[in-house]
Amino acid sequence: MSLTVVILAAGQGNRMKSDIPKVLHPIAGESMLGYVIDVVRQLEPEQINIVHGFQGDQLKEKYTTPDLSWSHQSEQLGTGHALAQAAPSIPDDHDVLVMCGDAPLITYSSLKNLFDKKYDDQIVLLTSLMQDPTNYGRIIRDQSNSIISIVEEQDATDSEKLINEVNTGIMKLPGNKLKAWLNKIDSNNNQKEFYLTDVVSLAVKDSITINGVVVDDEHEALGINDRFDLAIAERIIQARNASMLLDFGATLIDPDRFDLRGELTVGKDVVIDANVIFEGNVVLKDRVKIGPNVIVRDTILGADCKVLENSVVDGVIAENNCTIGPFARLRPGVKLEEEVKIGNFVEIKKSNISSQSKINHLSYIGDADIGKNVNVGAGTVTCNYDGANKNKTKINDNAFIGSGTMLVAPIDIGESATIGAGSTITKDVSKNQLTVARGKQIDIKGWKRPKKNK
Ligand code: UD1
Ligand code: CA
Repeated sequence: MSLTVVILAAGQGNRMKSDIPKVLHPIAGESMLGYVIDVVRQLEPEQINIVHGFQGDQLKEKYTTPDLSWSHQSEQLGTGHALAQAAPSIPDDHDVLVMCGDAPLITYSSLKNLFDKKYDDQIVLLTSLMQDPTNYGRIIRDQSNSIISIVEEQDATDSEKLINEVNTGIMKLPGNKLKAWLNKIDSNNNQKEFYLTDVVSLAVKDSITINGVVVDDEHEALGINDRFDLAIAERIIQARNASMLLDFGATLIDPDRFDLRGELTVGKDVVIDANVIFEGNVVLKDRVKIGPNVIVRDTILGADCKVLENSVVDGVIAENNCTIGPFARLRPGVKLEEEVKIGNFVEIKKSNISSQSKINHLSYIGDADIGKNVNVGAGTVTCNYDGANKNKTKINDNAFIGSGTMLVAPIDIGESATIGAGSTITKDVSKNQLTVARGKQIDIKGWKRPKKNK
């Protein structure tokens, strides 16, 4: 049967105490709503309708793909009222899958169990058996174990509160009956809200069977209502990420101190130490080693590259066998050819460094093109900014730049040139010679250190 998915995402989420709509809060770099959209896309529905309300324009601005349609709920009067806003766009001959924008951990594997043929034209609830069911709607069954209603926490009796089977907020319903039920829902409850969950008892009156399908893993049911839930969800997603990487054959020194906010592709025998954060799209080829306390963002590292402790590697493409860090900062637009060495307290942006070149200590390299087998001494600075424009530095193959050199760009350093330490280079340097540009040392005889006035 054709499928319409409706994602309820209009709530402000008061308990988040935030100016941002709840479903846009990120978990592992992706918003809650993003997870829900991704998982329902795997069901290949005919349409995905998102009910938006509180600062809903922010949702529409973020998610602009044409497979998403939108219904507006101007006042947040409850989940039943929210679904009613989408109802006019649901064809009668569709199945309807209702998702909550604040339940991002649901997996495709659990969802697809709702679509078993035997449930056609019935209601199927995705439920969870929770160790602590507090705050969730409880699934009420009769003596023959059939589901007869859902009772919200605020309306539950003490004995109902003991029930640990809960409503995940996700249900599948037949489109042709839904509208009539939604019309009958009232707000006579302790929250004065129109509860979608009341559809269950209305359907029972119409002799519709209510089925319960339990999620694969209790954690999937987590509905995020406050920052505590958000923090728990983050660790659940990171644990999933970590186990996926272990499964691919990467070594994680501590899977509990691993964070991935994006996509990470690993080759064979990659080793990742503790407290490493990956963001955006990162590729680590075979045998790459990432030291502790490193951030790697939108980067490709070739085979056998090493990033040593406390480095930031952002927007870098490195060929095989490069060493970066400790304490290096590589910024977007850096390309390293094979066997390049970048040492401590070196900042590089928008530069190409050719094979076997070394920048080992305390340097700033920006807008530079550095040849093969170049040695850049400690404390070298490319003075690339004249206050208005960025200028380029070119250092040709086999050049040796002495420590403490200022390279005032635009500038070209010839092949195999040697620059004496402490030089300020303002003119192009010819190849194969020694260039020194610094004040001459003088000794002042009889000079005395000043003394403190009494
Ligand atoms: C809801 C369920 C509860 C279930 C829990 C699972 C109801 C009445 N209760 O409770 O049985 O155990 O989810 O997490 O359905 N929303 C709107 N418009 C509204 C109200 C809510 O779009 O007027 C959206 C929210 O943005 C949210 C979702 O619906 O994404 C759930 O709403 P929320 O208020 O968090 O419901 P819960 O109290 O958690
Ligand atoms: Ca909720």
